[in-house]
Amino acid sequence: MKKFYITTPLYYVNDKPHIGHAYTTILADVIARYKKMFNEKVFFLTGTDEHGQKVQEAADKLNTNAKQHVDKFHKNYIELWNKLNIDYDKFIRTTDQSHQSKVKIMLQNFWDKGEIYLSEYEGLYSVSEERFITEKEYSEGNFRQVTKIKEKNYFFRMSKYQSRLIEYIKQNPNFIMPDTRKNEILGFLRKPLADLCISRPKSRLKWGIEIPFDENYVTYVWFDALLNYITAIDWNQKEKNFNYWWPADYHLIGKDIITTHAVYWITMLMAAKLPLPKHILAHGWWLMENEKISKSVGNVVNPIDLIDYFGEDALRYFLMREMTLGQDSSFSFELFKKRFNDDLANDLGNVLNRVTILIRKFCKNKVPSITNTDDTDKDMIDKIKSLHKVATRHIEKLNISQLIDDVMSVVRDVNKYLEIKQPWKTLKVDQSNYDGLNTLSISAEAIAQATKILYPVIPGKSTSILSILGLNSKDFNNFEFGFLVNNNISKHGPLFPRIEND
Ligand code: ME8
Ligand code: MG
Repeated sequence: MKKFYITTPLYYVNDKPHIGHAYTTILADVIARYKKMFNEKVFFLTGTDEHGQKVQEAADKLNTNAKQHVDKFHKNYIELWNKLNIDYDKFIRTTDQSHQSKVKIMLQNFWDKGEIYLSEYEGLYSVSEERFITEKEYSEGNFRQVTKIKEKNYFFRMSKYQSRLIEYIKQNPNFIMPDTRKNEILGFLRKPLADLCISRPKSRLKWGIEIPFDENYVTYVWFDALLNYITAIDWNQKEKNFNYWWPADYHLIGKDIITTHAVYWITMLMAAKLPLPKHILAHGWWLMENEKISKSVGNVVNPIDLIDYFGEDALRYFLMREMTLGQDSSFSFELFKKRFNDDLANDLGNVLNRVTILIRKFCKNKVPSITNTDDTDKDMIDKIKSLHKVATRHIEKLNISQLIDDVMSVVRDVNKYLEIKQPWKTLKVDQSNYDGLNTLSISAEAIAQATKILYPVIPGKSTSILSILGLNSKDFNNFEFGFLVNNNISKHGPLFPRIEND
């Protein structure tokens, strides 16, 4: 069995999650579910980033201490993932004892090997991004809350690994995906890479993991957080488990944190002499009226509201269908409603209704058998049979949006097929008309198989549809054609009631 290890970023617990966070985690969940469908053994990691200045400031603002703040706020993420039906294997918090102790071990190892040194430094610090930035970055104006800081700090010899990193990226063209992000990183690496400041004096920030060889410092939030990808799978604890899962197959992130992952994290791994992750995949941003949706801009859409109103599957579907991997995408309620009505209510919901009503009416609730198919039937059958292959191909490239599009096009073809065949007419005249019976059976089969392929995207609604068609979960991975024949169809209400304008 092939193994597949996928991660999301660890989100800051300075505020409530918004649809940007929901997107990355849903994407990871959908990919993980597809891999399981294809019989791979999956480990899916997510969690929260709980140290650092941002979190400390959020706690200060709420007049509470950092520990109480994170204990409360990390639950917002757990609650959202539950509501969104996210099937993760582990939720790691960077305040977990076992994570903290392993971060200290790594720091001590680096110190012992001379990968870390103490030095005076003066530079511009962006609190919003929790990192030192260059003058050039500052002048480009993408950073908020920038202050000048001069202090003694510990540094990781990141510069030492610059040429190795460049070589590695060039020799592994799919290491950083998509290409635009890879080129961005190669561009960044054309200038000399500085060493990485990995400490914060406690006089300035207490909320962090103490540096094991100097009690006056805590470690930098990114050095702490990035290590989660290995501490979560028992690095330096259960080597067997660690060696089984590591290296990660995919680190999923947004393009805002590509440098920390493709440069900081990778050079840290090089210094630790550990294998490198297979892929870092940085997706684009969800925008609202052309601006990135973010806590600090204040234009957030609360996913809980959308779930309460439209259901979790509708949100999963919309986010997965609407964003082409790597590109930015706009969110609006109008678009959301349109997708819901067009795809889910009209196409999928409608065709299911039509077919189950006809099977109940003409076939005593039972999916009829298929005999003497003609060319139109065979066309439809071919499309159904190709679904699994189409899915495999798109998943290989993590092209979820295109995959959904292709499946939905088969669903729309069922509607057309019904229009051509008009089984309600032939069966009205003769209830044993094999052409009418074929049409209903093949249509039901198409809906079942399209729904099985959509299962990772809309697991809740797919389960409902498949159970209406008389299938239970052990059949969801069976793509054998004709599997549905003789199944009993149950009565049901509309699965995706149309949203009318309010
Ligand atoms: O950066 N569109 O946490 P964070 C798409 N703690 N995705 C978005 C988004 C948007 N508008 N806004 C946020 C951190 N995201 C660090 C990570 S990892 C070891 C530490 C998603 O709470 C996207 O995945 O700022 C982005 O990379 C992440 O949330 C940033 O979350
Ligand atoms: Mg951020």
